[in-house]
Amino acid sequence: MIAGACSVSKQTNAQTVANEPHRPQFHFTPKAHWMNDPNGMVFLNGTYHLFFQHNPGGTTWGPMHWGHATSKDMMHWEEQPIALYPDSLGTIFSGSAVVDKNNTAGFGKNALVAIYTCHNKAIEDAKTGLHQYQGIAYSTDEGKTWTKYEKNPVLPNPGIWDFRDPKVRWYEAEKKWVMTLATKDRITFYSSPNLKQWTKESEFGEKLGAHGGVWECPDLFPLDYNGQKKWVLLVSINPGGPNGGSATQYFVGHFDGKTFIPDNPVTRWVDYGTDNYAGVTFSNLGDRQVFMGWMSNWQYAERVPTQNWRSANTLPRELGLAKSGNDFILTSTPVKEMATIINKASVLQNITVNTSYDISDKIQAYNGKYVVDLEVDGQKDIALHLTNAKGDLLVIGYEKAGNAFYIDRTKAGEVNFEPGFAKKMTAPRNAQGNINLKIIIDAASAEVFADSGRTVLTAIFFPQEPLNLLHIKATAPLKVLKLKHAGIATAIK
Ligand code: FRU
Repeated sequence: MIAGACSVSKQTNAQTVANEPHRPQFHFTPKAHWMNDPNGMVFLNGTYHLFFQHNPGGTTWGPMHWGHATSKDMMHWEEQPIALYPDSLGTIFSGSAVVDKNNTAGFGKNALVAIYTCHNKAIEDAKTGLHQYQGIAYSTDEGKTWTKYEKNPVLPNPGIWDFRDPKVRWYEAEKKWVMTLATKDRITFYSSPNLKQWTKESEFGEKLGAHGGVWECPDLFPLDYNGQKKWVLLVSINPGGPNGGSATQYFVGHFDGKTFIPDNPVTRWVDYGTDNYAGVTFSNLGDRQVFMGWMSNWQYAERVPTQNWRSANTLPRELGLAKSGNDFILTSTPVKEMATIINKASVLQNITVNTSYDISDKIQAYNGKYVVDLEVDGQKDIALHLTNAKGDLLVIGYEKAGNAFYIDRTKAGEVNFEPGFAKKMTAPRNAQGNINLKIIIDAASAEVFADSGRTVLTAIFFPQEPLNLLHIKATAPLKVLKLKHAGIATAIK
């Protein structure tokens, strides 16, 4: 079935969009209506494609379509017509997209193939538990038009209520496709020679990691550490995150094409903030693993105080590995492409903060979208107070007592739309020595990369006006070795 070319979303004009309260200026948001998980992120012929869970009929979750956006640099996104529409098999839940370089599926060399979950409401209502199964669709014009495979589903439901979110990658050593699928309280791996016939290989995680909620949106990919190849498995869970609601955990280990074995099956989190969920990596980016998540939380996503649209994505983040004792841990940092939207930075050195140091006069001009990079001498309490003339206050910092980073949005503007939204979220430190922090603010979000990306916190908030005043606070005299700040250009259209 060919998806209609008509655009269902009512597009608001560019001027209005950029000026809407809380509208991010350099994070992807749909121009109108609801968005959740990023889907099918893939790099093809010089263009980055982002598909996303989309309800073009409203600003809350509903019948899922795959929305579509493209970019040349992962910073400037252009929304495209909807890619995948619901059909007789169901609505279109999360999944992935691959470039079929060897034409294994027979849809054409370099065809773009989407692998997604069909969610069938009528079967769900019948409570047989067979309502989720996997389908595929292909595009030979770089994602503009799509054809659903006529023999869908390619992976029927074996009787598992939650059976979804296929993430597929090419496993070169055995020249086959590997699918990582969320199956209730575990991950199931399947393999296929042609994206159409799938064989179960193994299961992982029934009794490992965090299980406060259902497992969703897995992703498996290799990362190199000084010539050593490790495999990383991301698993989103909802609820049960470290600061409440939905969040994404990960395991580092070994994968042999069939089975994943973690080195150390402790629970670790990609991001400790409340607002980074269902994130996965781009396909077809060579050795780079670039991740984007949905910058919200199922606890309140449908009630956040935005108007014509709901939800943004996180910034694209480069994933890497670092060592913590004998273990490998995941690091996340904003991709280098971000330089295309960061204005010239100013650098301050060797600032002594006795109790408070005000850099508001420098930050004001950035109008609520800026980056601050700082390095502190030693390991002492530090708090960045981000405020505005209305008195909204967001605090980002580190507390020695609990050896933890935090974001406190208790007083950061509108919080009453959801009990529990007003909160201080924390993340244990996983490093020693001088602390460094990179903080990226965009209208209604803060992304905090501590210790060069070893600890990450992402939070959304809804101030009455941009947080354009900044004070650095200390509880004991503190030396900031270096403080770099820069404004960020508007990248949305
Ligand atoms: C995660 C999720 C997925 C599902 C999709 C539905 O946020 O629940 O498991 O495929 O959203 O929109």
